[in-house]
Amino acid sequence: MTAPSASRPEATSTDVVAEAARRRTFAVISHPDAGKSTLTEALALHARVIGQAGAVHGKAGRRGTVSDWMDMERARGISITSAALQFAYRDAVVNLLDTPGHADFSEDTYRVLTAVDAAVMLIDAAKGLEAQTMKLFAVCRHRGIPVITVVNKWDRPGKDALALMDEVVERTGLTPTALTWPVGIAGDFRGVLDRRDGSYRRFTRTAGGATVAPEEQLSAAEAAASEPDAWAQAQEEVDLLAATAGEHDQELFLSGVTTPVLFASAVSNFGVGTLLDVLVDLAPAPAGRPDADGAVRPVDAPFSGFVFKVQSGMDAAHRDRLAYIRICSGVFERGMVVTHDATGRPFATKYAQQVFGRERESIDVAFPGDVVGLVNASALHVGDTLFTERPVSFPPLTTFAPEHFAVVRSIETARHKQFRRGIEQLESEGVVQVLRSDRRGDQAPVFAVVGPMQFEVASHRMEQEFGAPVHLEPLPYSLAVRTDEASVARITASSGTEVLRRSDGELLALFTTKWVLRVLREGKPDLTLEPLVAAQLG
Ligand code: G4P
Repeated sequence: MTAPSASRPEATSTDVVAEAARRRTFAVISHPDAGKSTLTEALALHARVIGQAGAVHGKAGRRGTVSDWMDMERARGISITSAALQFAYRDAVVNLLDTPGHADFSEDTYRVLTAVDAAVMLIDAAKGLEAQTMKLFAVCRHRGIPVITVVNKWDRPGKDALALMDEVVERTGLTPTALTWPVGIAGDFRGVLDRRDGSYRRFTRTAGGATVAPEEQLSAAEAAASEPDAWAQAQEEVDLLAATAGEHDQELFLSGVTTPVLFASAVSNFGVGTLLDVLVDLAPAPAGRPDADGAVRPVDAPFSGFVFKVQSGMDAAHRDRLAYIRICSGVFERGMVVTHDATGRPFATKYAQQVFGRERESIDVAFPGDVVGLVNASALHVGDTLFTERPVSFPPLTTFAPEHFAVVRSIETARHKQFRRGIEQLESEGVVQVLRSDRRGDQAPVFAVVGPMQFEVASHRMEQEFGAPVHLEPLPYSLAVRTDEASVARITASSGTEVLRRSDGELLALFTTKWVLRVLREGKPDLTLEPLVAAQLG
């Protein structure tokens, strides 16, 4: 009997299961201006930010950052960088993954969504469902991510609450199950009726920039006495809801049939505490993740994680490259040596950090659901898996079907080396997809993107970071499909099309319009012209 009384692996396994169970890893997503930054800041205020006193972020928190990169964000009032904010709430550890806030939908947002277990969808009460709201709902459906919907800005005039619920049903196919219901119309926000216990959470307006929840909990009788008309109307609407829309059902929520709905005013911190409670109570904890062969790696298996984002040039003072890993199983300990599936090589994790905005801090230990930023991880690419002991490869992250294309040329021909290096780097980070053909040659590859903002970021970085200013010449194509060698000659015989090879080897046929593609499909039905994954979205 030589074994120590507390066998290490067993103790670790119990810890991992317990630690994973208290994680909630999610992202706040929305059409720009719905209040994502405001809500992020409010969430951080409500919670204890782990290890970082005063680390409250959002746009204001990022001011004063020095890199060129951040300059560009600041100038445009957007957020391009993204990482994770970790905080404690009740017994839970909450990981809030930041998504880019710029106007175009970009691949970055999609990648962040591969690393979350739930999403909070913010809707502007006055605008209802907007273009990106629809796209994001589609991505969540596609990836099976449960969505909690928050109707924000209820302090301002907006749409009717019942009409908003109808809009959600009709346009997303999801059944909204309101957990709270507004008392007082948009713009005359008195508070919410909490459908879970019938109580009234009264909204108390506080002078600008309140830092505590301006909420008071009253019983239904007290509510009826203090707000007779607004309360009666809310009651009536809630009865109507009960007759039409469903009640919350955890199974249906997790399987993406329903979306719990809350009403809030992020700018006044109203509804933020309720949202945190709902996240902790209803959002799923990290679960085992299927590998490329479909076998699930349970959370208590040896360490594994995958790279969902790579970013360099975040800090002008440290021209480093950060790879963000979402931990899927096991315990991460800084300094541990893991295996990189793509190369089979060992990778030492000496520099592991938690990053949010400009704040960085070393991470010593992390569990499933957590995000770790690995510094100077030049070998790591988006989608790569890291593991210890039992090998695993998680499925590659699918890329979106690009909709904008531009030829990129170096303005200074002497800087060819920098030009190549920059393009390689941007491609490996997934800032752009790079397409090439013999006809266009290596000096004039084509950038393919989902949102035109990606062009701007790429061209800015080519000049600032790699010293290779470029000229981008837009191409008239608007969609791409997958094809094969056998089809190329007959596709390119038609006008309004071109075939290029993506760096992963995939052959993409580009078309100016859907109509050109349709005519070709109908005329030559034996050609390979298959939609890329994202063509099925949105
Ligand atoms: P985003 O990250 O989704 O793009 O949105 P952001 O938080 O920047 O919010 C966009 C605007 O909406 C901001 O106003 C913000 O103050 C406002 N806002 C956010 N939540 C609420 C809310 O609950 N009620 C009201 N009335 N406004 C809200 P801004 O004028 O663009 O900027 P600022 O000068 O107020 O910061």
